Amino acid sequence: MTSKALLAASLTLVLLAGCRSQSALTPQQADGQHLYASRCAHCHKENDLALKPPPPNLSNLFHHAKLPSGAPATDAQVVRTVLSGKGNMPSFAGRFTQEQMDALLAYLHTGVR
Ligand code: HEC
Repeated sequence: MTSKALLAASLTLVLLAGCRSQSALTPQQADGQHLYASRCAHCHKENDLALKPPPPNLSNLFHHAKLPSGAPATDAQVVRTVLSGKGNMPSFAGRFTQEQMDALLAYLHTGVR
């Protein structure tokens, strides 16, 4: 199955499940969720460094046309931000394999459930 077909199939599953449970995450999304929890959430959710202003909430990131900064909410822009860093956000260049980056994006596309 191609990844698009897989995505379509999993979206159908999510719809059938009524977006109720985390178990509706695909294995790829679940990998991304793990990466997000270990590498991003401590800032973006917990703001453990007490940054001011606080890092933006990444929930439903791709459900709007623009990112909090006003940049377009596209995969390319998010990948660029993660690889280059931005303001108080460090660069993650060389930290993720392509597979991990794809998983992270797949999870961000779920709206960060
Ligand atoms: C050390 C804290 C920290 C970590 C870790 C961190 N970020 Fe950020 N992130 C920030 C801050 C602060 C901003 C706001 C930067 C700005 O606009 O100046 C930001 C902004 C962003 C933005 C929005 C950019 C925009 O244009 O609005 C995205 C997307 C993002 N981060 C994704 C991630 C992802 C994905 C991870 C995990 C791989 C991550 N961040 C890890 C602090 C962090």
